[in-house]
Amino acid sequence: MKNKVVIIGAGLVGATAAYAIMNRGLASEIVLVDINKERAEGEAMDLNHGAAFVKPVKVKHGGYEECRDARIVIISAGVNQKPGETRLDLVKKNTEVFKKIIPNISKYTREAILLVVTNPVDILTYVTQKLSDLPQNMILGSGTVLDTSRFRYQLSDHCGVNPKNIHAYIIGEHGDHEVAAWSLTNVAGVPFKDYCIVCDKDCATHDFRDKMSEKVRQAAYEIIDRKGATYYAVGLAVARIVESIFRDEHTILTVSTLLTGEYGIDDLVLSIPSIVGSRGVEKVLNLTLSSQEEEELLKSAGVLKGIIQELDI
Ligand code: LAC
Repeated sequence: MKNKVVIIGAGLVGATAAYAIMNRGLASEIVLVDINKERAEGEAMDLNHGAAFVKPVKVKHGGYEECRDARIVIISAGVNQKPGETRLDLVKKNTEVFKKIIPNISKYTREAILLVVTNPVDILTYVTQKLSDLPQNMILGSGTVLDTSRFRYQLSDHCGVNPKNIHAYIIGEHGDHEVAAWSLTNVAGVPFKDYCIVCDKDCATHDFRDKMSEKVRQAAYEIIDRKGATYYAVGLAVARIVESIFRDEHTILTVSTLLTGEYGIDDLVLSIPSIVGSRGVEKVLNLTLSSQEEEELLKSAGVLKGIIQELDI
């Protein structure tokens, strides 16, 4: 099967994800599907004009029938946050959008992995799971992969080391109730609380951690207030997930995935460190968290469960 990606939603996030996937040479074919056909066509034309600079890839616009031989279908269609809006404010509108999109995809494929990006991504990944009725490993969301990158960036900036040398995770909800798993954070294998001694800064304090966690939690709002939307980093996060699937990397990523008892949570999608490979989510890691992190995770779960119960899916 060729590495074909279909992206439903050619807005800023979908088009940037296409660009990131193309730039990393991950796909042999990228198809943009959008209710605004002209927009999808224009994005495909613009991307194709860069073909001479990247590995061979065919970019085009098309309809849902293009999902027939796709390996991954990315769903980035829907309304996005406006200044002052939370991701959860989008849930009703975007659930209605998904009630049209998912059946259209299912009409053409039961083999493609479905990668949800539209917000609120954890809830819409759950909606996709229920509407598609596919095995749970085939449905995942971009989740807190972006937030985890923001967390690692902030820590790398603080510690003065490459973000790739920092293992740190944001888990739970991609949103206001996300949880910084400080107890899992390490730099060069040294638990963060001990590494601070090495970098002789005042980062072992709770005040430092609370401020850092809040900075990550508020990142999207800060950007949306300044430029109206976020799309570069989330486009890169989507490309990273696609890379782990296409290259069967078994990378641990905090993707949105259905929990069936992990952390004492059942029948809910949350962003949890999971092993991602060619079959999608291969394993959800049931990691040991601090009691405070467990409490925050359960709170995050309670908020999402309450919202899901209100949905008509
Ligand atoms: C953000 C959007 C993708 O966090 O939710 O930037």
